[in-house]
Amino acid sequence: MTNYSEEQTSILEIQGKTPLRGETYISGAKNSALVLMAGGILCSEDCRLRNLPLLVDIERMTQILAAVGVKLQRNGDILDINAKDIGQDQAPYELVSQLRASFFVIGPLLARLGMTRVPLPGGCAIGARPVDLHVRGLQAMGADVRIEHGVVHACVKGSRKRLQGAKIYLDYPSVGATETIMMAATLAEGETIIENAAQEPEIIDLANFCRSMGARIKGAGSNKIVVSGVERLHSTDYSVIPDRIEAGTLLIAGAITQSEISLAPVVPEHLASVIAKLREVGPQVIIEDSNRLRLIPAPLRATDLKTLPFPGFPTDMQAQFMALLTVSEGSSMVTETVFENRLRHVAELQRMGADIRVKGNIALVQGIPFLSGAPVMATDLRASAALVLAGLAAQGTTIVQGLHHLDRGYDNLEAKLRKLGANIRRVKVTDDQDNIEYSAVS
Ligand code: UD1
Repeated sequence: MTNYSEEQTSILEIQGKTPLRGETYISGAKNSALVLMAGGILCSEDCRLRNLPLLVDIERMTQILAAVGVKLQRNGDILDINAKDIGQDQAPYELVSQLRASFFVIGPLLARLGMTRVPLPGGCAIGARPVDLHVRGLQAMGADVRIEHGVVHACVKGSRKRLQGAKIYLDYPSVGATETIMMAATLAEGETIIENAAQEPEIIDLANFCRSMGARIKGAGSNKIVVSGVERLHSTDYSVIPDRIEAGTLLIAGAITQSEISLAPVVPEHLASVIAKLREVGPQVIIEDSNRLRLIPAPLRATDLKTLPFPGFPTDMQAQFMALLTVSEGSSMVTETVFENRLRHVAELQRMGADIRVKGNIALVQGIPFLSGAPVMATDLRASAALVLAGLAAQGTTIVQGLHHLDRGYDNLEAKLRKLGANIRRVKVTDDQDNIEYSAVS
């Protein structure tokens, strides 16, 4: 498993303008895998998850589950989970604060134990990220929720300690809140209806996973989800869907380097908005054998995009697409509507010569013929991928620092890019105050 302290002192060195070619593999979806791991708490029998990506975030989630008493065993991309003996121990703040998705254990723990305590995850690089919608959903199902000293204490009212089905309208189709409520509702008494639910593919994956354990869930993937609670769930063996954000990122790697590449496996419908935008910009994206995408490059032209909940354009692809627009002819307008602080990559792209102006949550991008390699700093997970993409297209050498962001959510991106022919290598940096020494690690 990844050594965090080492990763924080590594950089990526990219020689740009190297054409790519061939096919690469798409790993399991980070955001699905994380919530499915939390969902494993709902079941007191053995659960096997397959196609798990190798990521720092997954490792952190493993540690959080272990801290609340879940037994776990990992073997390659398979994770065996047994939550029979979970206890009242609190997930440690240090871990929850590093991984927002770890807050998602609150729903399953409350449903199983009738009470739980989970530290508030706090904000992160891209925004404040409150959890009010998760909390209000659990309250509607009969939980007493108090926040004391940064910890959420949740307790089911009544002597039977079982959550009650409820009708819940979400003010915003939050992915995490939909997942929290859906998981809690699987073991509740009666029917729960979630209106204005998130419709992301990860919600459907969670519903399918819960159904494979005997949960009764209808409507996942639409804006109304109906869950009929059951008393207990049973053992399962389930495979995580492919990562649509990793696939989208690699499609842009092809487009930005004017290279023909293929990716598999993917679920093309999960990428519909990204494929539509890529086609507007120029490249052809061809769906082959229902689970492979082939990108055929073309000259790049500007387009506008606005991030929205699924099926709209994903906020998790905004930074990477902006990297593409920096070298697309004409003026593009990028509007971020999901998170309040998700344009921090702009300053780093500007270091590479990009012509971008920011007004509030809007970035105006004027395409230029080429970017110039430069040292840049990753500011968050998807921003780090955007800088790698920019480096692939830039003239000269780009050094990307802050790789702990990249390693949170991309399963060996540089190996996949290298397999496609990119000139990219990870270099370990030894900083002894006066001298910075570089030595190749991959
Ligand atoms: C998930 C994804 C993340 C993605 C995001 C939006 C995981 C682990 N992460 O995050 O990669 O960028 O969906 O597609 O699956 N909000 C509230 N109150 C709440 C919850 C959310 O105001 O209780 C707001 C957030 O601050 C944000 C917006 O709703 O502005 C969307 O957040 P949400 O859909 O909940 O994202 P996450 O589930 O945290």
